[in-house]
Amino acid sequence: MASYNLFIVLALASVTATMASTEFWVGGSSGWTINVDYQAWAADKVFHVGDSLVFNYTQGAHNVFKVNGTAFASCIKPASNEALTSGHDVITLASTGKKWYICGVKTHCSEFKQKLVINVEEAVEAPAPAPTSSAPGIFASSYQVFLAAAVAVGIIAVM
Ligand SMILES: *[C@@H]1O[C@H](CO)[C@@H](O)[C@H](O)[C@H]1NC(C)=O
Ligand SMILES: *[C@@H]1O[C@H](CO)[C@@H](O)[C@H](O)[C@H]1NC(C)=O
Repeated sequence: MASYNLFIVLALASVTATMASTEFWVGGSSGWTINVDYQAWAADKVFHVGDSLVFNYTQGAHNVFKVNGTAFASCIKPASNEALTSGHDVITLASTGKKWYICGVKTHCSEFKQKLVINVEEAVEAPAPAPTSSAPGIFASSYQVFLAAAVAVGIIAVM
C-alpha cells in the first residue's frame, strides 16, 4: 500500500514536470507604466527559462528595452531601433541569470522607476529530446521521469 501511494506521488510529479511554462504579465493589473514598484511585483515570483514576460501598455506611451546592468542602473537607452514598441511585447526568457528591462520614453526610467530586473533560473523541465538522441539526462522527457519513478517504486517494493 505504501509503495502504491508513493507511485501515485511520483506519477503526479512526472505530470508536474510537463506543465506549460508560465506567462508573467509584468506589473500585474498595473501593466507596464510609470510609478509602479516592479521589484515589489517581482519579489514573490520565480522566473524560469522558457517562461515569458508580457509588457502590456498603451502603444506609444511606453516602450521596452532589454539592457545590461550598467544601463539599467543609469537608465541609459540603447539605440532606438532596439526598442519593443507593440504595446504587447512578449519576451521569452531564453537563458539563466539577471535580465534588465527599462522604458526608454522620456525620463520614465530615471524619474518614474519604470524599470525591472529579474533573475532567471534553470528550466524545471528540459525540452523534449531530439528524435535521434539517446537523451542521457534524467529529466530528458516526462517518459523518462515516469520510468525513473517506476524503477524507484520497484526498488522500494523489493526492499
Ligand atoms: C493592457 O494595457 C491596456 C492599455 O493600458 C489596458 O487597457 C488593458 O486593460 C491591458 N490588458 C490587460 C489584460 O491588463
Ligand atoms: C551596456 O549597455 C550600454 C548601452 O547599450 C553599452 O553602451 C555598454 O557598452 C554595455 N556595457 C557592457 C558591459 O556590456
